[in-house]
Amino acid sequence: MLVGGQGTRLRPLTLSAPKPLLPTAGVPFLSHQLARAAECGITHVVLATAYRADMFTECFGDGAEFGLSIDYMYESTPLGTGGGIRNAASRLRGGPDDPIVVLNGDILSGHDLPAQVDVHRKADAAVTLHLVEVDDPARYGCVPTGPSGRVTAFLEKTPNPVTNRINAGCYVFRRSVIDRIPDGRAVSVERETFPSLIAAGAVVMGYAESAYWLDVGTPEAFVRGSCDLVLGRMPSPAVPGECGDALLLDGASVAPGASVSGGTVAGPGSVVGEGAVVDGSVLFEAATIEAGAVVRGSIIGRGAAVGAGAALDGAVIGDGAFIGPGNELTKGIRIWPGVRLAPTSIRFSSDI
Ligand code: GTP
Repeated sequence: MLVGGQGTRLRPLTLSAPKPLLPTAGVPFLSHQLARAAECGITHVVLATAYRADMFTECFGDGAEFGLSIDYMYESTPLGTGGGIRNAASRLRGGPDDPIVVLNGDILSGHDLPAQVDVHRKADAAVTLHLVEVDDPARYGCVPTGPSGRVTAFLEKTPNPVTNRINAGCYVFRRSVIDRIPDGRAVSVERETFPSLIAAGAVVMGYAESAYWLDVGTPEAFVRGSCDLVLGRMPSPAVPGECGDALLLDGASVAPGASVSGGTVAGPGSVVGEGAVVDGSVLFEAATIEAGAVVRGSIIGRGAAVGAGAALDGAVIGDGAFIGPGNELTKGIRIWPGVRLAPTSIRFSSDI
């Protein structure tokens, strides 16, 4: 699993923890992937780490909690997606022809992984890519295929996508293909490995499936992913409780007359005051929403507080920040950790 990225699009939340460890539906995001991997019959996982590597070991240890054996590899200089996979090769246990599953650490996917491996084996492919259809393919790797499902090109973030099918960030590699990725330097599978395999005539297959899929790399998608897990739209064995309109974790308290809905998760020790409305949001540990505040589609960092009567829509509030009563934060605004906004009636529309 590739977990070495800096998660810049999710700053400031990723200043204190890497993206795969951000609390998502009550557990670190990667727990959902690990639990699903175990469910699909995977027994050994190598985490390819770089940014805040020590936090992964502290969080997942030897993997026994998931019924997995987890090894950790570290890149002192980030090696990119291909370099990270190559760096992890020394810990892989399969033989040269065995299938190795590689997952981006920021994907929620309900697709049938054993079926993807099956396509890979039947085609005796070098690599088999999970493909999904999206409305905005230009933001992703566009992947056209021929009638047999064979990939004909890999066009990373092209302005002129030729199909809506994109790379979904889950690959099955033949082990020997990983061993041939150049060692000790940065490599991108998207820009280098896949295009050169296709150009060399290697069998690269596409496995298209329309099950639930989401790249949680942006704040908006991160909130949506957490809510979908809580609502049960994306089933995950790692959700710590019953699926429903809201998930209240240990010690979270919701005052009478407050409403918590839309798949909101209220982290341990978080507080929602009287008459407050929290809809489709993520409250980290010990976050506070004071009386009468309205919070929609937002992420409230650890120990952050939203003052009485404030209104947030699509906002990201860094750890320990305080939004004074009466402030109104509009879509996309990010507040840096520890910032204190005085009580006011100002409508903010840029980052602070
Ligand atoms: P942004 O900075 O917001 O784009 O996020 P990111 O750093 O996670 O980059 P991106 O979403 O493109 O990365 C896709 C996946 O590859 C994520 O799971 C990352 O953790 C992982 N990744 C990206 N770069 C590296 C790297 O240099 N080494 C390793 N091991 N993993 C990486």
